[in-house]
Amino acid sequence: MRTLILFTCFIHVIAQNSPDERSKNEIANIESHHHHHRKPHHQKTHRKKQPVCVNGKAVDGICQCELDFIGDHCEKKKHCESFRRFRNGSCPDCLKGFTGDFCEKIICDHGERKNHDTECLCHEPFSGIHCDQLETKKIYSYYNRKVFLLGPLGAISLIPMCLLYMGCEYFAKKRQVKRVGLMMEGQNINVKNQTLERLLKNL
Ligand SMILES: *[C@@H]1O[C@H](CO)[C@@H](O)[C@H](O)[C@H]1NC(C)=O
Repeated sequence: MRTLILFTCFIHVIAQNSPDERSKNEIANIESHHHHHRKPHHQKTHRKKQPVCVNGKAVDGICQCELDFIGDHCEKKKHCESFRRFRNGSCPDCLKGFTGDFCEKIICDHGERKNHDTECLCHEPFSGIHCDQLETKKIYSYYNRKVFLLGPLGAISLIPMCLLYMGCEYFAKKRQVKRVGLMMEGQNINVKNQTLERLLKNL
């Protein structure tokens, strides 16, 4: 148990120190600064801070993005279908699964956009970059969890059903014995009900 906790902490530390995570944090920081600057009294007293440009460099407080990157922090990649670009940097057609003026927005079939519209957060049990895939493993685990949740309830609802079924079966057998008995009586054959029951059970 302790090993598991240690391992989880370890993973957590690694995740926080990964460069990807760091740049996201920086973007978040910068964005909160931007919000401050929008307030008039801050604009006068503070000097403009250079923004963080993930795929580009800051010039006069604005990010100048590398080729095919866009966004206030050049954090969004364009996903154009061809090499063709308009003068404003947009492209005539986007790759499948992307949309937006600069093909910078990802399309999530069964999920929501996150992380500046560049990634999908999939609804279960969908997976894949565009949440358009169904993995057998994921489906199994999804339904297993559902069954696990329904388990106790399902069992309770099964009890009256079983009783009903067993009752029906029992009375049906009784009726069958009676019916066959009457039929045999009509033909002048005398058989004990118990014997008949035993005979019918073996059918
Ligand atoms: C860029 O230019 C093209 C062609 O002139 C135009 O259709 C498109 O709407 C423009 N996109 C943006 C984001 O301004």
